[in-house]
Formats: sequence, structure tokens, C-alpha cells
Amino acid sequence: MPYSNSIVYLNGDFLPLKEAHISVLDRGFLFGDGVYEVIPAYGGHLFRLEQHIQRLNNSLSNIRLSLSMGIPEWKEIFNRLIIGEADQAIYLQITRGAGEKRDHAFPKEISPTIFVMCTPIPPVLGKPSGIKAITLADTRWESCHIKAITLLANILLRQEALDHDAGETILLRNGLVTEGSASNVFAVIDGVVVTPPKSNNILPGITRDLVLELAFTNKIPVEERGLPEDELRRAEEIWVASSTREIIPVTVLDDNAVGTGQPGRLWQEMHTLFQAYKAKLRATP
Ligand code: PDD
Repeated sequence: MPYSNSIVYLNGDFLPLKEAHISVLDRGFLFGDGVYEVIPAYGGHLFRLEQHIQRLNNSLSNIRLSLSMGIPEWKEIFNRLIIGEADQAIYLQITRGAGEKRDHAFPKEISPTIFVMCTPIPPVLGKPSGIKAITLADTRWESCHIKAITLLANILLRQEALDHDAGETILLRNGLVTEGSASNVFAVIDGVVVTPPKSNNILPGITRDLVLELAFTNKIPVEERGLPEDELRRAEEIWVASSTREIIPVTVLDDNAVGTGQPGRLWQEMHTLFQAYKAKLRATP
């Protein structure tokens, strides 16, 4: 189906994407004053819906936006947008809404803008061969745990990677890895999977949590701790993880091979566990 004809949700209505319009005074447009979520659906089943909605609610309360929508209401909207069984992702964005004029202060009377669309997740063809990543200083603000739509720093950092024929930028703050421009980072150091702990400097990734859970239940050694730059540079394996890209092995970092230069053994193991988790979700009645 052509993209522009797909049905989206906007403030209570279901309508074709090309007919979904918002005011130019919307604070999302003027200030980036809003938050979002990206929720995959496999075989028509939403992936970790409760965790995504919990993170959304945390983001909303962090930006002082109150909204009384529970999981059943969200689920009803999402299920009307998901078509068929193919892998797809819900994109949900909430802004503070449109005020009477451009004013930094929160308007007294304002209702949020709620927008939801569903788009296909491009299939991962064959066995992922690994991507190249670059490292850059993390120039973002100090509230990266909020999934804010204000993504200018992230997109500039990601574009640097694309300009260098790389697939992701791994960010460094005070000598430690924080995360990727749109992903969480894992590195295998002396046989142990290491990932930075949750803090204001990273987004608490839903994929990250599942990777940790799968590691614990399958006795793969794992540690949440600070990951210094020099350890990243000597890592046996590096992975980046996110909802739409799953778990991707990084085989080249800043023009140097990571480990053997091929996707590593632990990545293969984790990838297999992750695919099995997805298959189980797909098979849910
Ligand atoms: N981004 N860190 C950042 C900065 C991200 O933007 C993302 C995901 C993640 C991974 O989170 P999760 O596993 O919950 O997807 C970590 C989404 C996919 C995006 O912006 O499109």
C-alpha cells in the first residue's frame, strides 16, 4: 500500500496519512516539545507493550505532560493500525499541543497532539554481516533517558556515521561509552557482555532489557557497568541494539576490525535467542 494512503491516528481520528495535518503552532513543530515511542509488532503482536507504555509514561511525567491513557486504550489504537503479519513498527508521538501564539511558557489551556502511525520494518535479509561504526563525543543534553522528539543532536551524530559509510555512531562522554545515536551498545570484554548501566545519559532501551534478560536466563556472562573507551577499542565483539534494527554486530570501529572482523560467537548466540523470542511472540494465538 502506498505510504500516503496508509491510515494513521491523529487526535481521536483514523484517517489517511496525507490528510493528517497539525497546526504550525504545535509545540512539537516549534520547540520539539514532545515525546515518542517506537514499538515493533511481530506477527501482529506488539513487542513488550507494557514496558514501552511504562517508558512513555516516564517520558511524559519528566516533561510534565499529563495524559490519562491506559494500555487498553493504546492497544485499541495500535491494533487498528497494524495490518497483517509482517514485521512493522508503531510510531507514537505526543506533543504538548498548539498554543495561541509562540511562547516558551506552557500555555494554561492546551490539549496534547497525539499521533500514531504504523510502518513496515525492513526485513533483515540473510545473516547480518556486521556494520561499521564510528565514535564521536556525546554532544546531547543530560536528560537522554527521556525519549524526547528533540533529536537534532542524535540526527547530526548519525549523519556523521552515514557520511563515513558507517551504520551507527557510538557516543563517548567523559571517557565512557554512553550509547549509539539511535541504539544501546554492548561490548564483549574478556568473554563478558558489558553494557553501560541505566542513567540520565542513556535511553533505557526495551531491546537492551530483553538482551540482558536473555543473557541471564541462558547463563551468558553479562555486566552492567561503565565501559571505558579503551575497553571498547579492544573489545572482542561490539553490538548495537534497538527496536527496529534488533541486535547488530559492529565489525569495524573507526576503521579498525573489531575482534576477528566477523560477527562474534556471543552475538550469534544472542541473535539466535532473540529470533526464538520473536518466533514465540509471532506464534502467540
Ligand atoms: N530509537 N538509544 C537511543 C538514543 C535510541 O534512539 C534508541 C531507539 C535506543 C534503543 O531503544 P529501544 O530498544 O527501546 O528501541 C537507544 C528508536 C528506534 C528511534 O528513534 O527510531
